[in-house]
Amino acid sequence: MSNRMWGGRFSESPDAIMEEINASIDFDRALASQDIAGSKAHAEMLAKAGIISTEDARKIIDGLDQIAAEIEEGRFTFSRNLEDIHMNVEARLAELIGDAAGRLHTARSRNDQVATDFRLWVRDALDDLDRQILALMNALVAKAAKHAGTVMPGFTHLQSAQPVTFGHHMLAYVEMFARDRSRFRDCRVRLNECPLGAAALAGTAFPIDRKMTAAALGFDRPAANSLDAVSDRDFAMEALSAASICAIHLSRFAEEIVIWSSAQFRFVKLSDKFTTGSSIMPQKRNPDAAELVRAKAGRIIGALNALMVVMKGLPLAYSKDMQEDKEQVFDALPSLSLSLAAMAGMVADLQPNEARLREAAGIGFSTATDLADWLVREAGLPFREAHHITGRIVAEAEALEVDLGEMPLEALRKVYPKLDATVFDVLSVDASVASRVSEGGTAPDNVRQRASEWQARLAQE
Ligand code: ARG
Repeated sequence: MSNRMWGGRFSESPDAIMEEINASIDFDRALASQDIAGSKAHAEMLAKAGIISTEDARKIIDGLDQIAAEIEEGRFTFSRNLEDIHMNVEARLAELIGDAAGRLHTARSRNDQVATDFRLWVRDALDDLDRQILALMNALVAKAAKHAGTVMPGFTHLQSAQPVTFGHHMLAYVEMFARDRSRFRDCRVRLNECPLGAAALAGTAFPIDRKMTAAALGFDRPAANSLDAVSDRDFAMEALSAASICAIHLSRFAEEIVIWSSAQFRFVKLSDKFTTGSSIMPQKRNPDAAELVRAKAGRIIGALNALMVVMKGLPLAYSKDMQEDKEQVFDALPSLSLSLAAMAGMVADLQPNEARLREAAGIGFSTATDLADWLVREAGLPFREAHHITGRIVAEAEALEVDLGEMPLEALRKVYPKLDATVFDVLSVDASVASRVSEGGTAPDNVRQRASEWQARLAQE
């Protein structure tokens, strides 16, 4: 039998391979509820505009509700020879209500239909991500408030740099995730225009009311240009771009957790709930969740690349290539959502090892900058000269195999005679962090203040 949707023009059935390459139902069935919502809004509008009868619209809407229930309850048979979700739903509607089903597709094409469904799906996913990011930010801020004064090593090049606080480190990620959230929100604003009514590409001769369908589906307005409405996948690329950036933030943090939880670092302990053991090595507590969060970033960035490469050569308007947009997004956004949830769980349970962090914070002459600053402040030296003298003191300390704070005053004076015992006041890691009071700096009071600002802000949501 030739195709029931376009069989008029065809005498032969499609080849089995044609069906296989063409069918999208295996993945676009995820759009079922969006497709039904879109069709209901369209049917109501067609009736209101007098394009179909109220009677037919009623039958269509009841039939669609029945299909929604069948899908929900797992009683719906999806078939591959009906290609995609749109034709599966319409074919079932015809079985249920007969001829009236054939009127639903008036003034509509699968091109504006799929663009609408997909936007609705992405919009829901963005709303879910917004909640997940908020939950993670709450977990980070709580940790930050608790550990505003917990000293830890700060690194550049993964080399000992200057002491910071654990709370400050947590709040660095809060800032990143706040930007991620705002990117997703921006994306949602641009996404929220309704393609329905663009029809295949040129609009329609029927007197449709696009504002009505747009409003019924929660869109801000109809998309302005019919060609753009059916060809645009910016919203998907933009969502994947924002998702990729967010995934990169998660991945950097995951990488730190992997390093920090190793036996050689011992900076943090992950809970049993977010680690796994080994089938052979009894001592193991592996940070699998963090590793998988790190890996998912690769997948999400891959999805963005895949979609951009699919889109980049397509002339206007719709091409079937665009059917390949969905799997990337269906994989990437839930992967990000799961990563965010896993990270929130890890953070909530994370136990910083305060003694070890403090000890590690002092390793590697991490207060050398404080010594140079002392020379600027107390001896009036230009910073460059102070830097040079401090470098020589560090070399001396290295030769003596002691930390800066453990250097005998005599040894310090040998390098720079004007040094006196008050210099030791600035060489401890606590003095170092306490002194970093500049706006955005790591001083515990700053961190406490910033954490409580965040707490107040997030509590309002
Ligand atoms: N399954 C198709 C997709 O996802 C629906 C649109 C088909 N349109 C067409 N003109 N063949 O893109």
